[in-house]
Amino acid sequence: MYIKELSAHEGQVVTLKGWVANRRDSKGLVFINLRDGSGVCQCIADATKINENDFEQAGKLSLESAVEITGTVVKDERQIGGFELHVTQIQTIQIAEEYPIAKKEHGIEFLMDKRHLWLRSQRQWAILRIRNTIIYSIHQFFQKEGFLQMDAPIFTANASEGTTNLFETDFYGEPAYLSQSGQLYGEAMAMAFGKIYTFGPTFRAEKSKTRRHLSEFWMIEPEIAFCDIHQNMDLIEDFLQFVIRQVLDNCQNELKIIERDTSILESSLKKFPRLTYDEAVAIIKGEKDVNGQNSIKSLEDELANVETQIISTTAEIADREKKLAEPGMKKGEINFNQAKIATLKNDLKDLEESQRNIPQWIASAKNFKYGNDLGGSDETVITRLFDVPIMVYDWPHEVKAFYLKRNPNDERFARGVDVLAPEGYGEIVGGGERETEEQKLRDKIIEHELPMEAFEWYLDLRRYGSVPHAGFGLGLERLVTWLCKLKHVRESIPFPRMYGRLTP
Ligand code: 4AD
Ligand code: MG
Repeated sequence: MYIKELSAHEGQVVTLKGWVANRRDSKGLVFINLRDGSGVCQCIADATKINENDFEQAGKLSLESAVEITGTVVKDERQIGGFELHVTQIQTIQIAEEYPIAKKEHGIEFLMDKRHLWLRSQRQWAILRIRNTIIYSIHQFFQKEGFLQMDAPIFTANASEGTTNLFETDFYGEPAYLSQSGQLYGEAMAMAFGKIYTFGPTFRAEKSKTRRHLSEFWMIEPEIAFCDIHQNMDLIEDFLQFVIRQVLDNCQNELKIIERDTSILESSLKKFPRLTYDEAVAIIKGEKDVNGQNSIKSLEDELANVETQIISTTAEIADREKKLAEPGMKKGEINFNQAKIATLKNDLKDLEESQRNIPQWIASAKNFKYGNDLGGSDETVITRLFDVPIMVYDWPHEVKAFYLKRNPNDERFARGVDVLAPEGYGEIVGGGERETEEQKLRDKIIEHELPMEAFEWYLDLRRYGSVPHAGFGLGLERLVTWLCKLKHVRESIPFPRMYGRLTP
């Protein structure tokens, strides 16, 4: 029996197996919050109702001890899952040693070192359940739309997304790289099956610590024969909205646990604005407004607002600390004030981070050089003006991958598209229409100084039935990070791999 099934067993005696997430004792009663992976349930052991030995065991259960508890299912609206268990029997499976993750605040590096245990905490549990819903709904979407799931190899002889971040291995007697993207193989499979998607791990040796980059991440890459850039953008929008809707419909409880304000997710169900690179640059530089909002002006206003809040928050902390120092405060009031101070200090840290970041964003927006790729801060600046993901297309061809088709009406631009998530999150999808002409690809391969031999198989696709085709790549962890509004991509995957982090 799992906790999530309790509602179907009201009034019955059931047995749950799980771990002690919390224990609280009061006269003749022991309250155990049991978690079993499916949910959490309060179990009440009453000294007058169970045998002495069982009651004694209940009182000895340390945090994360494993236990089997039998009891009657009783409805209680106030409880997390709506039910509690009135214990009739307790069987200890293992008494846990003192658990390293306590209730108090821990630093992020400590928690990352204990990631194998941290996964059990409620917030991490909720985030990774949302990840699971996202994965399931991705498969649902493509399968219902008639796509075949096809796997691309992980060891490859060729690069696809530039050569600066390749992981190289030497098993094959020639360099073999860990795949940066399944796309080139996806194109071959689309020519065989019409429309396919790959869903696999991808690798990028990015030697920088940012909140958006992992060295190992999961990418979903559909590829469609007979598809142009505009149809590709239609597909991206349908796809992302399907996934968002599934998360809203199926993860209410998880979203509540992580305190996600879902209004932006709901507003993301409307049409995604499609902007050319030129329009996006004008918005970033403050030369063009969005719904009456100017990028630079709104950042300056926000900075002023942040500075006012820093002053008032600092004053409130000082005020509460002063009161705490005075004698005579009741215990409850002391606890309340201490908790409040901890929260305020956290808020202050965030505010101070904004105070440092905003001037940098303003500077990089003002100084943006036309023709460059958008950097993380440029993406932040533009996406803060929208309450829905935006699609930026038609990029200067020099800053994009070799395989993108040029806009036939203006050769300066390549038909790539990036989806930028709102709330400052930035790029979650990169894609585009592919070049169909062999010679143009050869020229680009030379321009990018890539080894031609490694691409001969790929060029075959342009010799035998070359057709317009397009596709995109969604970074799974980037989507989880945005939908859960996480500060850093490291919490969006069970065991993150990134520069400076290989264990646990
Ligand atoms: O924009 P990218 O580099 O595009 C491609 O790889 C194309 N071949 C996709 C295609 O058209 N089939 O990567 C796609 C997405 C990015 O938008 C981002 O969400 C994610 O992959 N991504 C990363 N996620 C986490 N850590 C990293 N280091 C990432 N690099 C890219
Ligand atoms: Mg990209």
